[in-house]
Amino acid sequence: MTYRILLSAFLLRACAALLITPLAAAAAPRQHLPLDAGWKFHLGDEWPEALRLDKAGASSGPAAQGFSDSYWRVVDLPHDWAIELPFDSAADGNHGFKALGPKYPQNSVAWYRRAFDVPATDSDNRLWLTFDGVFRDATVWVNGWLVRHHEGGYYPFREDITDVVNFGGRNTIAVRVDASKFEGWFYEGAGIYRHVWLEKTAPLAIAPDGIFVSAEFPKNIPEGPATIQLRTTLLNKHRATTNAEVRWSIVAPDGRTVEAGGAKAPEIPAAASVELSGRTTIQSPALWSPENPRLYQLFTTVFSGGKVVDRQETAFGIRTVAFDPKLGFLLNGKRYEIHGTCNHQDHAGVGAAVPDALQEFRVKRLKEFGCNAYRASHNPPTPELLDACDRLGMLVMDESRLLGGDTENLRKWEELIRRDRNHPSVFIWSIGNEEFTVQDTPQAAKAALAMQDLAKRLDPLRPVTYAAPEGDVFQGINSVIEVRGWNYHLGPQVDDYHAAHPNQPNLGTEQASVVGTRGIYANDYNRGHVNALDLVWPGWETTAESWWTFFAERPWLSGAFVWTGFDYRGEPSPCNWPSISSHFGILDTCGFPKDSFYYYQSWWTANPVLHLAPHWNWPGREGQPILVQALSNCAAVELFLNGVSQGKQAMKRNSKLFWPVKYAPGTLSAKGYDGAGKVVAEAKVETTGGAARILLTPDRTTVNADGQDVAVFTVAALDAQDRVVPLAQNKVNFVIEGAGQIIGVGNGDPNCHDPDTFFPTQSVRNVAVGDWRWKLAKIPRNNSALPESAMAFDDSAWSILKNGDDPMTIEAPNTAAIYRAYVTLTAEDVSGAGAQIRFAGCDDEGWFFVNDQFVGEWHDWASQPSFDLKNLLRAGDNVIAVGVFNGYGRGGLNPGAEVSVFGKPIPAPWSRSLFNGLAQIIVRSTRDAGEIKLTASAEGLAPATAVLQTKPCPPRPSVP
Ligand code: GAL
Repeated sequence: MTYRILLSAFLLRACAALLITPLAAAAAPRQHLPLDAGWKFHLGDEWPEALRLDKAGASSGPAAQGFSDSYWRVVDLPHDWAIELPFDSAADGNHGFKALGPKYPQNSVAWYRRAFDVPATDSDNRLWLTFDGVFRDATVWVNGWLVRHHEGGYYPFREDITDVVNFGGRNTIAVRVDASKFEGWFYEGAGIYRHVWLEKTAPLAIAPDGIFVSAEFPKNIPEGPATIQLRTTLLNKHRATTNAEVRWSIVAPDGRTVEAGGAKAPEIPAAASVELSGRTTIQSPALWSPENPRLYQLFTTVFSGGKVVDRQETAFGIRTVAFDPKLGFLLNGKRYEIHGTCNHQDHAGVGAAVPDALQEFRVKRLKEFGCNAYRASHNPPTPELLDACDRLGMLVMDESRLLGGDTENLRKWEELIRRDRNHPSVFIWSIGNEEFTVQDTPQAAKAALAMQDLAKRLDPLRPVTYAAPEGDVFQGINSVIEVRGWNYHLGPQVDDYHAAHPNQPNLGTEQASVVGTRGIYANDYNRGHVNALDLVWPGWETTAESWWTFFAERPWLSGAFVWTGFDYRGEPSPCNWPSISSHFGILDTCGFPKDSFYYYQSWWTANPVLHLAPHWNWPGREGQPILVQALSNCAAVELFLNGVSQGKQAMKRNSKLFWPVKYAPGTLSAKGYDGAGKVVAEAKVETTGGAARILLTPDRTTVNADGQDVAVFTVAALDAQDRVVPLAQNKVNFVIEGAGQIIGVGNGDPNCHDPDTFFPTQSVRNVAVGDWRWKLAKIPRNNSALPESAMAFDDSAWSILKNGDDPMTIEAPNTAAIYRAYVTLTAEDVSGAGAQIRFAGCDDEGWFFVNDQFVGEWHDWASQPSFDLKNLLRAGDNVIAVGVFNGYGRGGLNPGAEVSVFGKPIPAPWSRSLFNGLAQIIVRSTRDAGEIKLTASAEGLAPATAVLQTKPCPPRPSVP
């Protein structure tokens, strides 16, 4: 139930707002705590019956609170287990040939568990659990209670878990993730690959995603003051009606508090939400744009009963966006050409689990060649990507995974819009991509309208588009969509459509799809090699030069998004196995530029650019012609081989230049001239010697010591004169010391099957527990010593119970029995990391002892008890004793028990081969102070060491 109360805003004096700010920060109970560190992870699903729907809290296996996960691997989120899986030529190529999906059930389901404490002092608060994204089909239990089932792999989900939390004690989250089904036709990862948060709020608080701030100008042109619309939804989780007051204050990019206002809700019924709105004015606002990403901060403070009960800070930007059918896209009232790239969300080394600092790294790489817009194809992005785009200046097309007007799709769509609508970077919503099966039907038009209308209701100022693969087709979705999206199709189809529908704005939602492998200059599809000189494209599209020339000549098309900015796993078109990643990127999977980077940089940035391709190492090709390309925005370029001019050519706008040059080793160089004949740029490529040493270059000199920050190292092979050797493929080994850990390695080679990540291996030996002996007896029903658990106890007269026998040995209710068995272990077994015991069942309740020590109790007849036996076992015979109490019907101990002994984890050494001279290592800080020392070595090359300093930072509050 949502009440909308429109109250006239009242202005407070700026100094009053300034006073509120620090006080409120101290008093408000809201905490937004990362829940990323220290999850237990198990690949595989040995508990197919774990989910129980008949009774609350009855799920078993890892879903049960008492389950022992002591020997599961520890992982930090974000985590993508798909990158850890082997490549398999029989697997789905579009998903990157990983042994995952419908054909690989053993690799496609995994469990995550996390224990955490909640202090008793939180018992008056509400606790929310938020998953930013899990791929996919997640079932979530908290303390054994089934709290959520969420299928979609890209949408966030959130649950109020307050009622099942154990305040003042230990709590457990269990998540079963089932990635056996695909959602897309590209690499999607697997697991909890985005952040998880625990949010604590007062019972009366700002509702989840309950803040919406937007700036308006007359005629949508930012001249004069901006009207700031403020909306705050409050949620009353008290069991009684309450009242509240909201105050807003806004801090401008220069640090001044510029405006403030507020609104009151005299009555908010129990379990209801209410939206309060207000309006204020900002004189001479600082506008946001990709070139000047100026951010304001909105502070929303909620008072109730004379106290501050909530406070949230929201970054926003002031800017206008619009599409004009003739002028194309307008940013802040002026024509603005979209120089966009489509991108999937995976990166080398880490797959879909991209740390926040790596999102920033990726956005910066895109900006280097003039990219000003990012299409999150074909799924909702993670919020930290949007934060990076807000901060660094990058427009974003925020896209739904699927078209659909059904309740569930609209619910997810609404949640997405509510989550993302404060980001100034988000300039357009996309309702979907290439819905071939339905897109031209009247039903698809209705689904599109349902999504578009909802977007407009929630966010009236942002346009909506659909990435349409059709040409001159005005049916179905195209006939109703606000902005006509163009996936491919150049030529008359586009012009004819525009002529026939002159009032519909247009946007190139996806273009190019030209393919090339970094540093490769000849096609060899069997090896997965594609010439990188913008010469190869699949049937449905064309080269960078031709699509961009076409768009640049038609301003009404608004510019476009190239398929793709970065290479991504999967879709190795036009190759097949052994290619496991795409060849479409302007950058490879690591972010190393291909030659087309310089084509776009030439025409999308203002400074002089001059780049020569290919490299100049062609032994054996002496005297043969080699096609040399100059990528430049200079008015003319002159090429030289070993100082001898090969001719000067004038550059046509949006074009590039070629020279056939007879190969001779040495130096290929070029001069770029402006219109007046002045040299404004120079470039050279040299024939290098063989690789002599390694160079390690981090993208920064310090990292925050927060356990989250990331540095990206480039590994290069240099010759004796310090030139990068373009053909070097050496295998490089890495050792890290100090306050950092390597989390992934890559090299951008779409054909490389080296592992991206290395993690310690641990041996497991399962030892079946021998035959049991049992007898009916009285038991204490607690942890007090059970004399029958002593090694020397004589059980020879007891009955025998073998694995496979009927486990219901206790016939009568309210009766107890004792069970004893032995397990024999070696000295090696007991010198490892530890052991655990698992029973097939215990009906109804049991108290478990090993070598006369109490190990735990179990009160769930339907699940399998398991206990950690660390430090309790010895070499030779060990005795296990269980007291079982049968309350109802028949009962007993299931004799199918097993001890698992775990070896010490053996760390795996990190390595990666270079691809055409380069590789990448991604290093994450720990929370420790000190330096991070990374050493790279390779056979026959001088090693390299790089040292990074860590910057102490106040520990970010997180879930213990
Ligand atoms: C498009 C599609 C993209 C990608 C691309 C490859 O049609 O939207 O997801 O598959 O083709 O060229």
